[in-house]
Amino acid sequence: MPRTIIVSNRLPTKVKRVDDGLSFSPSEGGLATGLGSVYQQDDNVWVGWPGLYLDSEDEEHHVTEQLRADSMAPVFLTEDEIRDYYEGFSNETLWPTFHYFAQYAVFEPAYWQAYEAVNRKFCEAVVAQAGPDDTIWIQDYQLLLLPGMLRQVLPHATIGFFLHIPFPSYELFRAVPWRRQLLEGMLGADLIGFHTYGYMRHFLSSVERLLGCPNQNGLVESGNRTVMVDAFPMGIDYDKYAEVAASAEAQALEAEYRQALADQQVVISIDRLDYTKGIAQRLRAFELLLQRHPELHNKVTLLMLVVPSRDQVQQYKQLKEEIDELVGRINGDYRTISWSPIQYFYRSYPLEELSALYRVADVALVSPMRDGMNLVAKEFVASRLDQRGVLILSERAGAARELSDALIINPTDMAQVADAMYQALTMPLEEQQQRMASLQAIVRRYNVHAWVELFMNRLAYSKIKQKIMDTD
Ligand code: G6P
Repeated sequence: MPRTIIVSNRLPTKVKRVDDGLSFSPSEGGLATGLGSVYQQDDNVWVGWPGLYLDSEDEEHHVTEQLRADSMAPVFLTEDEIRDYYEGFSNETLWPTFHYFAQYAVFEPAYWQAYEAVNRKFCEAVVAQAGPDDTIWIQDYQLLLLPGMLRQVLPHATIGFFLHIPFPSYELFRAVPWRRQLLEGMLGADLIGFHTYGYMRHFLSSVERLLGCPNQNGLVESGNRTVMVDAFPMGIDYDKYAEVAASAEAQALEAEYRQALADQQVVISIDRLDYTKGIAQRLRAFELLLQRHPELHNKVTLLMLVVPSRDQVQQYKQLKEEIDELVGRINGDYRTISWSPIQYFYRSYPLEELSALYRVADVALVSPMRDGMNLVAKEFVASRLDQRGVLILSERAGAARELSDALIINPTDMAQVADAMYQALTMPLEEQQQRMASLQAIVRRYNVHAWVELFMNRLAYSKIKQKIMDTD
């Protein structure tokens, strides 16, 4: 029976070395819940990196066996590979370029070589799992070359690729010295998916200008194959968020937080530590709100959660210092004995705590400079069983294409962000409920299961179409 193989850089389970052995815990991010319905069925499997350097062969065996029992197949990476492929090409070359931070992009041939070598390693790991007729679904920018590599080895396999970050305009993309190889790698897939039509258009334009392959309604002629390109905005597991929000544990935590924050209106901000998220700009906009509205002093708190990420990459280290300094300065300028305007937490949070925080908030401030989709915005919406609360959302997050009942802002316009915060904090309840109800209708309907189903159906269709064309 044909199988489905999911491939991503990170496995949905993260393995860590702890005092008394190894710990296995869920990785951050929403992908695992959505794809859980796929890889845990039948003989399907998820191939990826478990986030750990190996100490010994024994350890390799132990981790492999443990993950196999949960339908996962690990690809182990060495320290050098992590430095040059993961921190290097993935996160110092592709990540800044694709998020329009061209000034941060490093073009280092050694990074490129490692990127190719690790994509090849993933290719071998997938081939060890896959039969000629299996369906392979590859995720994200760390594996752009993998579809092409697999196509050479398994010419008949059904291969899907989904990019979870923006695809930049041609002017940004053309700066990458290995731009042709990257596009050719992606075109090894039968179906390439993006979160928005905008990203898809940028990709098609790069393919046309750099490879000379035109497209018709998203169908690209590449050699003797036709590749389908389309937009599939990713959703969240709505029911899971709604259930956790209704759980006794989340409600007890919520009551505790409400007591601690008595008399305060709460603005919440939750992100991975990343310069694309606009965290420093957000702090400055909050400072502007305090400057302009002294009547809010002692009455509003910014709860800012920053989840540690990629802390070996220089730009991330610098950003951490900038945030620490800004929070210290703003709190120093405004705090009173009984009030700290910003409560800042630098750590990961379990789902029940996040859910309680989403529910305590009057406003969620989601203001990235660039973001492929942004699932925090959707998680906030799904957690608001009371239909209160206001979402402020950056026009540069993919989610803004769907969530038009949020207050949509330009994240670099401090005055506009501060005004939106004021508007949100003073919004009549009826308006909050109307907006939230329509946001919930969208987030509930276009959930992660619908996303998986739509992509998988389209992938199956792309293959049927290809077969019909081959026989014509
Ligand atoms: C983004 C990327 C994912 C990545 C996640 C966490 O959402 O699109 O591919 O897994 O960040 O980043 P990390 O580098 O820790 O895997």
